[in-house]
Amino acid sequence: LVPVIAVDGPSASGKGTVAQRVAAALGFHYLDSGALYRLAALAAARAGVPWDDENGVANVAQTLDVKFDGEHILLCDSEVSTAIRTESIGVGASKVAALPQVRAALLERQRAFAQVPGLVADGRDMGSVVFPQAPLKVFLTASAGVRAERRYKQLLARGEEADLTAITADLHARDERDRARSVAPLKQLPDAHLLDTSAMDIEAAVQQILGWWQA
Ligand code: CDP
Repeated sequence: LVPVIAVDGPSASGKGTVAQRVAAALGFHYLDSGALYRLAALAAARAGVPWDDENGVANVAQTLDVKFDGEHILLCDSEVSTAIRTESIGVGASKVAALPQVRAALLERQRAFAQVPGLVADGRDMGSVVFPQAPLKVFLTASAGVRAERRYKQLLARGEEADLTAITADLHARDERDRARSVAPLKQLPDAHLLDTSAMDIEAAVQQILGWWQA
């Protein structure tokens, strides 16, 4: 069985960066499951399928023609790694992620990332639904204020417009949607290690996870 480290947590908690560095340190593969929901939202928009059309978006998700190649993400052979990171696609991702058929359509695609020598999987339901047998589960979070600031800096660094008040409100709405939805709601599992990074830098968070892994 391929070992999986499941890293779940709310938006802008720093999961992506931390999970990627843990994967690099161990020589493991990395799954950015949020990118798949973003890709489904983008592909639906491009196909003219509304984000609340469950059958339509599930069909788009099932047939996504996507390739992950290092930093590059190709949708139908065109580079979309920047296009999927906008706030508007983030909102779409959070909406389509609440649809059970869309989640089901992406399930096997996610499990296929579990290849030797191992996988670090980043998302909301890695430990609960996609890899429930994962030997290490981490719930990575940070206070709402710290997360809003991290997202703000991330958008500015990308040259996007950013407004801290709007970002805080949007994070709050997204947290609510992730926690309240009927399928795969975001929650801390009883068998997950809690990692609160409010007062912790990336390197310290990486070291903590590696410490748990080696224990
Ligand atoms: O960090 P942020 O929430 O902006 O983005 P993300 O991790 O790229 O995920 C985009 C959206 O997909 C999230 O808002 C979640 O609602 C959803 N998602 C999910 O439902 N399940 C996952 N395993 C990963 C992401």
